[in-house]
Amino acid sequence: VSSTQSSSSNRTHPVNSLTQDELKKIAAYKAVEFVQSGMVLGLGTGSTARHAVDRIAELMKLGKLTNIVGIPTSNVTRDQAVSLGIPLSDLDTHPIIDMSIDGADEVDPEMNLVKGRGGSLLREKMVEAASKKFIVIVDESKLVNYIGGSGLAMPVEIVPFCWKFTLKRLEMLFMEAGCVGKLRMFAGREEPFVTDNGNYIIDLYFKKDIGDLKASSDAILRLAGVVEHGMFLDMATTLIVAGELGVTRSAD
Ligand code: 5RP
Repeated sequence: VSSTQSSSSNRTHPVNSLTQDELKKIAAYKAVEFVQSGMVLGLGTGSTARHAVDRIAELMKLGKLTNIVGIPTSNVTRDQAVSLGIPLSDLDTHPIIDMSIDGADEVDPEMNLVKGRGGSLLREKMVEAASKKFIVIVDESKLVNYIGGSGLAMPVEIVPFCWKFTLKRLEMLFMEAGCVGKLRMFAGREEPFVTDNGNYIIDLYFKKDIGDLKASSDAILRLAGVVEHGMFLDMATTLIVAGELGVTRSAD
């Protein structure tokens, strides 16, 4: 965790030589400690958030959490929650969510995020933007010095219509950062990946720091053909990081 965050963090649970999935589970379980009966909960997507959904269901079965309503951020999470018996609703019925818990692909020192390598960024952003609290749960490999700093992709959800045109426009926006865009494909298939909303994803790779994130976000969103991007700026209210040396939680 960055010095800014660690100065305001509480360290708990010493842990040693755990797998990445075990670290994800520790972060997820820690976040679920903040869930209270009667809450409307945004349920995130991905291998970290999956542990949180499992834990919420487990506590419900034990009678330790009651009257929970979940708002899923993807069809996969919806199916998981249904299979575990978590009652579900949506943003139309619950426009204000008490708390969301979700993973991230990158977290910078200001708690800005990259999300969407799992392809669910649009619903995640809609649900998490409507949440009073948004707890981000990650293992320490997700911490970066700047957005794009992992060398992995920053995803952008676009409409399928003339996707090559939109890809080129996105690359041109970030020419100075040496941006290369790639259409995401379904793993092991020769077909474009299609989101839950029927859209495509362009993964943007940067050779350099893109600089002003707010200006970058605005520029991307101004392009016709773009639906949403995977930068979640100023949205996280709490960060829980599990690492080899323990679990840290940022101040709320
Ligand atoms: C899905 C996401 C995920 O939260 C993100 O990709 C992290 O995934 P994981 O917990 O599997 O590492 O944004 O769209």
